[in-house]
Amino acid sequence: MRLTVNDRVHDVAPRDDETLLELLRDRLALTGTKLTCDRGECGACTVLLDGATAYSCLTLAVACDGATVRTVEGLAPPGSLSTLQQAFIAHDAAQCGYCTPGQLVAAQALLDHSAHPSDDEIRAAMSGNLCRCGTYPKIVQAIRAAAEAGAGASADAAITTAEGASRGA
Ligand code: FES
Ligand code: FES
Repeated sequence: MRLTVNDRVHDVAPRDDETLLELLRDRLALTGTKLTCDRGECGACTVLLDGATAYSCLTLAVACDGATVRTVEGLAPPGSLSTLQQAFIAHDAAQCGYCTPGQLVAAQALLDHSAHPSDDEIRAAMSGNLCRCGTYPKIVQAIRAAAEAGAGASADAAITTAEGASRGA
């Protein structure tokens, strides 16, 4: 089967019971996406699957033939941080940081569809991502700040740059 992850095409032969999370971490070495609950409750494994958020621990890899996946590693070109990632740092929105990759992917998905969400819209969109450290208020602050800084447009620019770099490689 073939899938595209962060603008790179991969031909892989996963087991029938292999999850997308296992494929990303164990075959492609994209370990930014985290395994925590392994049962669709926490959101640490969130990725974008054909543009929509998905729990990769609940997604069978074989069901992703032909799909396009974006992980936290693909939110900005290598060696740089997106506006959203910078806002998470500026607002101290991580403690242990284990939930943060999933939080970032879910937040970017929100901003890509709604450039200026209200705090209630942010909380609703992020309700599938749990944080055992309880940094929820700072996560909302960071997303609000990123929206005010134009994170949707910024991410689009970053992704376009990454695609250009990938094509040139
Ligand atoms: S590890 Fe997938 S939802 Fe928790
Ligand atoms: S920062 Fe520790 S789980 Fe969210």
